[in-house]
Amino acid sequence: MFTRVEKYSRQSVIDAAELLKAGKLVAIPTETVYGLAANALNEKAVADIFLAKGRPQDNPLIVHISDMSMLPPLVCEIPDIAKRLAERFWPGPLTMIFPKADIIPNVTSGGLDTVAVRMPESEAARAIIKECGFPLAAPSANLSGKPSPTAAAHVFGDMNGKIPLIVDGGECSVGVESTVVCFKGDMIHILRPGGITAEMLSEYGKVEIDKAVTAQPEKDEKVLSPGMKYKHYSPKADVYIVNAHGDKFAEYCAERVKSDKKVIVLGSGVSENGVYFDYGKTPELQAQRLFALLRKADEIGAETVLVEMPEQSGVGLAVYNRLLRAAAFRIIEV
Ligand code: TXA
Ligand code: MG
Repeated sequence: MFTRVEKYSRQSVIDAAELLKAGKLVAIPTETVYGLAANALNEKAVADIFLAKGRPQDNPLIVHISDMSMLPPLVCEIPDIAKRLAERFWPGPLTMIFPKADIIPNVTSGGLDTVAVRMPESEAARAIIKECGFPLAAPSANLSGKPSPTAAAHVFGDMNGKIPLIVDGGECSVGVESTVVCFKGDMIHILRPGGITAEMLSEYGKVEIDKAVTAQPEKDEKVLSPGMKYKHYSPKADVYIVNAHGDKFAEYCAERVKSDKKVIVLGSGVSENGVYFDYGKTPELQAQRLFALLRKADEIGAETVLVEMPEQSGVGLAVYNRLLRAAAFRIIEV
């Protein structure tokens, strides 16, 4: 199959909707990462997403809507806390879990009786959903296990020949996937941290962070969010988090770089020289750059990637959560 890449425009929205209406897959830009979209209510189309990504069948997909009127038919109940969060954070990088209505096929919800829904902030994503008139199931548009794509070129690298169209909306502004929450009464339970932070959510209720966000699940442990149990975001290189900053970090990395040619370093605010890469001084910049830098590591044939420990608050918690998985939980204490 030939994979076309079209810049976001009125015409590409129409082209994308035409393919999606015919049950095909289209990669679409969102503010978080690119999504591999299909009609969420079309079982066959959704099954094709799992095939294209090589994704485990029990890992449910997020259903994307373009306005509030699309939500009630998809769910059995909308808790008050969800209404308040939707009012404040939608459109935006927040996904909420609801009891699912029968209209959601089991393949979309990974066999669960709940469904994850989000209204993306990206104008391109919402224009495509609106043109379709149905909700879109869309996981990140990477091959399963690889870093999520934050640019159309990343999607092309993983999906060339597998899908007919990629809509290119430029680089993603957030850079890590949406925050995923479920509710326990009035308690907001964070299953996956993202651009909408625990601090922001705590203005609306008591917030609890799932232990799987920072801890490695035991082998057969049941996790609330199935995505948490899989190896993720990994380049071919071995990634290590280095728990040091400033001179200590610089000295440790300098030693490693000196003794091994295939080592690269991602440090906040370092000057770039083909071995050292700047992954930004703020958690927001680190979120934007992390996945692209992990892909870069593969491009240049690195075997080891040393990454400076990020902050663990605000958007930094999302960066830390993705890095832990990319690094298979390996942390070097200096
Ligand atoms: O920002 C995003 O959320 C991106 C863009 C494309 O919208 N999408 C995305 O989808 O990250 P994906 O499939 O890569 O991640 C979905 C996450 C997984 O960890 C999955 O297990 C969890 O959401 N999830 C989906 N439905 C769920 C449900 N009913 N209950 C618990 N977790 C769920
Ligand atoms: Mg993903």
